Amino acid sequence: MIKVALYDAKDYDKPSFEHYGGLHDVRFMFLETKLNEDTVALAKGCDAVCVFVNDSVNKAVIDKLYEYGVKLIALRSAGYNNVDVKAAFGKIHVVHVPAYSPYAVAEHAMALLLTSVRRIHKAYNRTREFNFSLNGLTGFDLYGKTVGVIGTGKIGRIFVDICRGFGMNVIAYDRFPIADSGIKYVSLDELLAQSDIISLHCPLTDETRHMIDVAAINKMKKGVVIVNTSRGGLIDAEALLEGIKARKVGAACLDVYEEEADVFFEDRSGHIMNDDLLSLLISMPNVIVTSHQAFLTAEALNNIAETTVNNILSCFNNDGICDNELCYRCGNVEQCMKKRKERCF
Ligand code: NAI
Repeated sequence: MIKVALYDAKDYDKPSFEHYGGLHDVRFMFLETKLNEDTVALAKGCDAVCVFVNDSVNKAVIDKLYEYGVKLIALRSAGYNNVDVKAAFGKIHVVHVPAYSPYAVAEHAMALLLTSVRRIHKAYNRTREFNFSLNGLTGFDLYGKTVGVIGTGKIGRIFVDICRGFGMNVIAYDRFPIADSGIKYVSLDELLAQSDIISLHCPLTDETRHMIDVAAINKMKKGVVIVNTSRGGLIDAEALLEGIKARKVGAACLDVYEEEADVFFEDRSGHIMNDDLLSLLISMPNVIVTSHQAFLTAEALNNIAETTVNNILSCFNNDGICDNELCYRCGNVEQCMKKRKERCF
């Protein structure tokens, strides 16, 4: 029996993890709290922890987990910017779920975009009150518009295909463009200057943090629509708010927000909102916020639980090699052990 403390558990997580865990003698202990220095002790006696995007797996937490004999950090997400993989190296193995449904995220990005440009969010509220006026609901055609896609990995590429289906002109920027993909790559500055819509699909790294800042917004077209289903930290939210107030940014569709950790995924409807910036963004008629739900489809939840259980089994059984292991050296041509079909350490 492998015992796993699953932090930040939600009702929608439990059935799939119980199902796949039950098939393989992996027992999940569901904890509603997030993992941090105050809650790490709850993992005592467990073989592994299973974490999500807003758990903070920093060096202090990792050192404690190591002290408790925890052998594995299993992310049930693709992004891993919340785990100090360097601090974990040599102590605790880290695995993630590289892809569970890139369609879920790409489709949500398009859902947000359509909602915004056709004012569906406003129409929905109006008709519920029998207000059938069309005033203020004028949108614009996506057909023929230029969409700039930043990051053409698994999700970005599907978003590119969806946009092409709408007859949009797609341009893209990626630090590592895919050869012979048929995607028209341009520089980041060109993308910012030419796009009517910009959609972010790259990871959050030291390099990409606040890639959409005052300077970037200044380079954009007036009326640009910005879609972010990637990570909140890609956008300097204050700069975005200023861009909206200055009428430079025409609309923003945000599934993620830099300071989302204490707010998103929770019902805060009965509380005073302490985050003024988020309150102001939400109050804008041209901003749509969903609370990090782009991944949330039945297909994705099943894939997440199945892959996580398989990751855990690979790490604890046989030779311990898991294709989905992560470390700070992964991808480094000379040092990457995974390329040699070995554990990261
Ligand atoms: P991926 O790893 O397949 O693709 C990321 C792409 O970004 C790669 O092509 C990479 O070359 C590119 N990239 C890396 N650094 C860059 C830079 N400095 N500038 C431009 N491009 C750069 O990742 P995938 O699966 O497509 O996911 C993308 C992001 O979506 C994840 O990092 C994650 O943060 C986010 N995500 C959000 C979810 C949600 O529910 N809102 C769910 C799943 C992922």
